[in-house]
Order: sequence, then C-alpha cells, then structure tokens
Amino acid sequence: MPLQISDLSDAVLNTHYAVRGPIVARAQELENLGRKIIYCNIGNPQALGQKPLTYARDVLALCEQPALLESAPQAFPEDMVETARTILDQSKYGLGAYSESKGLRFIRKAITDFIAARDSTDGIAQSSNLEHIYLTDGASKGVQTALRLLLASQKDGILIPIPQYPLYSATIRLYGGQQVGYYLDEDCGWGLSEQMLEEALHRAMKEGIRVRAIVVINPGNPTGAVLTEENIEMVIRFAKRHNLTILADEVYQENIYEPGTRFLSFAHVMTKLSEHEVSLFSFHSTSKGFFGECGQRGGYMEVRNVPEEVVAQITKLQSVALCANLPGQVMTYLMVNPPRPGAPSYKRYVEERSSILSELAKRAKILEEGLNRIPGIRCQPIRGAMYAYPSISLPTGTSDEAYCLALLEETGVCVVPGTGFGQKPGTAHFRTTILPPTRQIEEVIDAIDAFQRQWG
Ligand SMILES: Cc1ncc(COP(=O)(O)O)c(C=O)c1O
Repeated sequence: MPLQISDLSDAVLNTHYAVRGPIVARAQELENLGRKIIYCNIGNPQALGQKPLTYARDVLALCEQPALLESAPQAFPEDMVETARTILDQSKYGLGAYSESKGLRFIRKAITDFIAARDSTDGIAQSSNLEHIYLTDGASKGVQTALRLLLASQKDGILIPIPQYPLYSATIRLYGGQQVGYYLDEDCGWGLSEQMLEEALHRAMKEGIRVRAIVVINPGNPTGAVLTEENIEMVIRFAKRHNLTILADEVYQENIYEPGTRFLSFAHVMTKLSEHEVSLFSFHSTSKGFFGECGQRGGYMEVRNVPEEVVAQITKLQSVALCANLPGQVMTYLMVNPPRPGAPSYKRYVEERSSILSELAKRAKILEEGLNRIPGIRCQPIRGAMYAYPSISLPTGTSDEAYCLALLEETGVCVVPGTGFGQKPGTAHFRTTILPPTRQIEEVIDAIDAFQRQWG
C-alpha cells in the first residue's frame, strides 16, 4: 500500500504556512484560467519586477563560469573580474564543491567586517568572531537551526510576536514546541511593550511551559514597525531577567523608509550595554533589502554569548546538511562586500541601489495613504520592511479568510488573511506587500477600495 496520510505525524499535519496557503493556490488556479492576478502575498521582489543588481549577478556569473574570466574578461569592469578571481582563489575549488559546514571562511571574515562597519556607531567599537558565523540557505534555515537547538521538549516554548512571520509558528509546531505569542500594540504603530511581554511569559509559565527564547522581527514583518533603541534595550533586559535567548530576525535591515528612523541591530545595543550573558542569534538574508535575491537562498546567522560546546552542536547540526549552497554564499559575500567608492562598478551599483530603495519608500507611502483613505480600513505607518498590515472592519460573523478569498475572486488581488500571522481576538487584518510597481499599487488600492465599499 502506498504511503497514507494517516502515516504522517501530527506535527507535519498541523504545520501551516499561510503565505503560500489555499488563497494563493486559488490565485494560481484563476491565473491558469486566464485571469489577471496581482500577487501581493509574498515578499518576493523579483517576482514583481525588481531587477537584480548588475554587480551581484555579473560577479556571480563569472564565478559560476570561470572560463569567462579567460575568454571575455574585457566584457566586465575590472573590479568585477578581480572580485570573481578573489572568490575563486579563496574558495579553492569554486562553486561546484562543498564548503566547510559553517561556510567559506573568507566570506565569514567579510561578514565580521560588515557587522563591524554597520554597528561601530555612537562610539561603540564592534567586533564579531568568524567562528560564530554560519552561512545559511536564506535566513529561514538559520532560524530553523536555532529553533531546533532551543526546543528540547514539548514543554519548551518560544515567545513570538503576534502578528508574526509564519516561519516561526510553522517551525515551532514542526519541532514539537510551544508557541507563546506576545501582542504588538497596533494603536502605537505596532510597538513592543514590556507589559505585553511579561503578560505573555507569565501566562505561559502558569500553563507549565518553559519559555526558552524570544523572537523579535526588526524591521517587522508583517507590521512595518522599526524598533527604537529603548525598545531593544527593554527586550535585552527582559531576556536577561528571565534567562531567555534572543532570536533577532533582521532580514529587513536595509528596508527603512521613514526619514529620521534608523535600524539598530541587537548586537550593537548589546555591545553598548556590555551585555555578555544573554545569548543572541541574529539573522540576515540576501532575499530582502535592495538585493531581493530570494531565489539565490543566501543568508547568515551570527551567534553571540554562546558557550563553545553549544557552538560545536550548532556546527554539527549545520554539517548534517553538509553546507549552505555555494551560489547563495557568494551572493551573501557580495551583499556584505559591495564595490568600493571609486571602483569602476561603484556608480552603477549606487544608482541601482538608490533607485530600488527610493521606489520602495514611494510605494510604502502610496499604499499607506491609499489604504487609510478607504472607509473601514486602517493602516499603521509603514516605516520599514515590505508590507502593510491594515485592520479591516468586517460584518459580524465573517472572517478575514472569507474576505481575502472574495477579494481575490472579484478583483484578482491576492493578499494574505491576518489569521496566518496572528491578531488580537475580535480584530481582522490582511497583509499586502509594497512590492508591485507603483502603477499596480494604485490599481490594488482602487480594487480594495471598490471591494471594501460593497463588502463592508
Ligand atoms: C521576517 C522574515 N524572516 C525570514 C524570512 C525568510 O527569508 P529567506 O529564507 O528568504 O532569507 C522572511 C521572508 O519573507 C521574513 O519575512
């Protein structure tokens, strides 16, 4: 008899991943029937027309096909050729060979330099250890490794924001742990409050859950919020008080749109506080920012304040899959090591970067303002990341899932219902990305406006 559904574990059957759930499946069906669909369900920039950065793709192409370095080096700017040669020399065997489990050493070194340059501000000298950096297949794999490590029993819980990115709820479920949600405060621009954290923790403790870690997504998906330094300090103190590890998901660190708002990493603030007792796992990715290279599956995880014997266990887990994919590792190198000012590729790189980021900032504003003009919809400021998560008022008895499905059927706009990310009981939301081209963002707003007026 072939494998039956009843043979599968509850952990697998009960794992849900909303951003690719039934509404997206229906969108694909409609598209196959010839309907025009605007996919606003997932933060996949290049699927919505964002162009890859020339520098990153050309250097990667040279590394993938080193024969070009011999046959056509003049077709590429000198610094690209030089960077590709360095990558091939340093990797020794090129992109077709496994690397060491943690990832190529020179790339980990480049990541330590990137972190030092990013975080050495406000008079804080920052240093990280390349032995505590792991190249990963996108940030997702790093997050899964950290959760695998932390969830030792069914009573172990992880504090995650509500709303959250479903990688967390799905993986915690899959690994047999407990999800402990802490609410973000929508009326304060999805801010994070100590009271909400304490309440969530104590509720979980009363239920016999041993809370092991807190996940913070900054800038926030789906909320678009960016944490202040005080907020980050508060989380670090909270983690210390309750002996929790921090998982800092910082994949949107380049996606800041609000003038005067800046990204601060947990690593930076921990160094500023001279905090050496709280364990920190931070994640970054080539999928977001202005790279938008989701398909290349590049990213890294940095661990701090973790004893060497635990580091050895992480390395062991990483080595079960041998290593992260090599093109993704190279993409990560190119993300942390862009062309230098004055290099032949620099000007074009800066132009492409600025054009992508300024377009995203423009779309965030258009979407936020457009949604706020629709009666019954309220959208908090989109300060960062790639999403809006507006609240919607629905007639009693209807769900946001039914709303999003009807929106799709009537207008072709594909968004994800709030139930997939979590929300306070009695509230309803949907998540849409800011990624479609400006013209389409306007179409999306008009479609939602017309739909909401007849639905609400
Ligand atoms: C908050 C957050 N973390 C992690 C990821 C995973 O990204 P990737 O695995 O492509 O790096 C995403 C993707 O959308 C995300 O939004």
